[in-house]
Amino acid sequence: MKDMKILKCLVAFVLCMATGGAGAQVLECITPGEIWPDDKGEHINAHGGNVLYHEGTYYWYGENRPARGFTTEVGVSVYSSKDLMNWKNEGVALPVSEKRGDVIERGCIMERPKVVYNAETKKFVMLFHLELKGRGYEAARVGFAVSDSPTGPFEFIRSLRPNAGKWPMDFTKKDIKRAMALDEAKYKEWWTPEWRKAVDVGLLLKRDLPGGQMSRDMTVFIDDDGKAYHIHSAEENLTLNIAELTPDYLDYTGNYIRLAPGGHNEAPTILKRNGVYWMITSGCTGWDPNEARMFRAESIWGPWVQLPTPFRGKDADKSFHTQGTYIFKVEGTDEYVFMADRWMPRSLKFSRHIWLPISFEEDGTPVLEWKDSWRF
Ligand code: GAL
Repeated sequence: MKDMKILKCLVAFVLCMATGGAGAQVLECITPGEIWPDDKGEHINAHGGNVLYHEGTYYWYGENRPARGFTTEVGVSVYSSKDLMNWKNEGVALPVSEKRGDVIERGCIMERPKVVYNAETKKFVMLFHLELKGRGYEAARVGFAVSDSPTGPFEFIRSLRPNAGKWPMDFTKKDIKRAMALDEAKYKEWWTPEWRKAVDVGLLLKRDLPGGQMSRDMTVFIDDDGKAYHIHSAEENLTLNIAELTPDYLDYTGNYIRLAPGGHNEAPTILKRNGVYWMITSGCTGWDPNEARMFRAESIWGPWVQLPTPFRGKDADKSFHTQGTYIFKVEGTDEYVFMADRWMPRSLKFSRHIWLPISFEEDGTPVLEWKDSWRF
């Protein structure tokens, strides 16, 4: 049955005479959950990433994952396409460093890279989640890299924890005073109602203030006015932060807010349509799928209102066994695509890409329904 579907979709086997390659497949539709071959017939190795449109071409960036293991051995991959279905492997956009002790040395963890174009500086800017070699997930940093070309090579600039010494912009003097008065020693046990309340009012925010807020799962959003925002899981993945970047997208302005403190949101994805911001996130269950959440706001600075999951139908409570990574708009249309990963921790390289078109209810609410196959 499944094979029939794939057969229907991989209609044509075209010999690419021009390149001399033998038997490259021309994909005529998207088949979520199946192997997605690139121009060399290999499953696209770009996970947790994003798609960027630039001058007539789409670029797909993502984690290059090994067949076994959880660390980054290669770097961030980049592919290019004209039709969003057939992708050419453009190699490694940001390679790991082979130098021992470098922050991005081979064996570190680079996750959820997002590349955006800065129209003012004319640079491609990459932000990614970075964990240092041999230190599990404790570093919780964001990495910055830049390139003059969409396919790289990107130059690694630095890594950090955002907004050191800065309170969120919506924290009043009273809020700061209350947070400062919290005694961490009193809240050793997690998940108690008292602990939740303390997180809500800034227990972990205050703990991380001197060195900067933690930054794990993340995305980057460019608003209509060209301003960029880094949206990241902070406070031990309990709270999302929306942090404004400087005009060159390489630093923070210091303006940021907390979204759903203690709400345990990961894998943020966002779209803006008809002036309304919609954010779709996941819960925190590692590589295992869970029920997505959705938030709506009329300003990037909130208030953000939580709504039910946008997933509908069978396995909606597991988000069709996926975790989101990005939402992009198809150039020149009102079509949005939700990009997600179906993680396969035994062999992350073969984690499947689940791309689904987003439909909208009359009031603009995004909806995600499963499709075995679809086309642009
Ligand atoms: C997920 C996260 C992934 C990766 C994984 C590691 O929750 O979304 O990007 O960090 O945990 O267990």
